[in-house]
Amino acid sequence: MNVGADQQPRQARHVAIIMDGNGRWAQQRGLPRVFGHRQGADAVREVVKAAPDLGIRYLTLFAFSSENWCRPRDEVVELMGLLRRYLRKEVAELNANGVRLRAIGDRSRLDRDILDLINHAEALTAGNDTLDLMIALNYGAKNELVDACRALAHEVAEGKIDPSAIDADLLTARLQTADIPDPDLIIRTSGEQRLSNFLLWQAAYSELMFVDTLWPDFTAGDLSAAVGEYRRRDRRYGAVVG
Ligand code: IPE
Ligand code: IPE
Ligand code: MG
Repeated sequence: MNVGADQQPRQARHVAIIMDGNGRWAQQRGLPRVFGHRQGADAVREVVKAAPDLGIRYLTLFAFSSENWCRPRDEVVELMGLLRRYLRKEVAELNANGVRLRAIGDRSRLDRDILDLINHAEALTAGNDTLDLMIALNYGAKNELVDACRALAHEVAEGKIDPSAIDADLLTARLQTADIPDPDLIIRTSGEQRLSNFLLWQAAYSELMFVDTLWPDFTAGDLSAAVGEYRRRDRRYGAVVG
């Protein structure tokens, strides 16, 4: 296990963010919700740019949940449009900055052109190692776990593994995040205090931070403050420390 005691000073290497509050940001200004999403995309740019200088090596951003399809059609179309624009406009710069981009989540429901953009971005940036940026798209942790269990069940049925050999490591290896360390810190903006089906398995020992700032107002300074607070947290992993 990745025990924190030997990491001095304590550094959040993997930060995951539930980017919440776009709708309320717009509503507070008497604007349609889509304006909040547009402003939220600017916050994404700022945070991705700032992350490496804060010692962050992995950044996972919750952009669209498997439940977000339940929103009004116009809003879903706008969110997909913003994603399209982000992938078209930002990937060259991300690549130049050494960012490796990957999507996690169920791709089967995404439009063909978005899939193409994702595949292209993943292939282009595969060799980069400054920052691993995971965008969670049509992501739901329960679905991810069900898929991993199904994969294990198939392997058992095919005689490749014995049921008694199944342990946490085997399951972890079948998650979409298999080669990514668990998040040290999960930040949720907008004051809501729940995980909303985000990284349930991987969050087992993550530090959780709930900030009132709405996502479009979240800045590099806020990220720096969160990483600073993380340094002061005491991670014990169930043990007695000190
Ligand atoms: C987060 O902001 C963006 C997505 C979930 C895609 P919201 O759209 O959930 O904003 P609120 O929570 O309604 O304010
Ligand atoms: C979680 O936010 C999903 C994303 C940030 C992409 P939601 O706004 O969808 O979550 P709930 O509905 O408040 O739990
Ligand atoms: Mg929300």
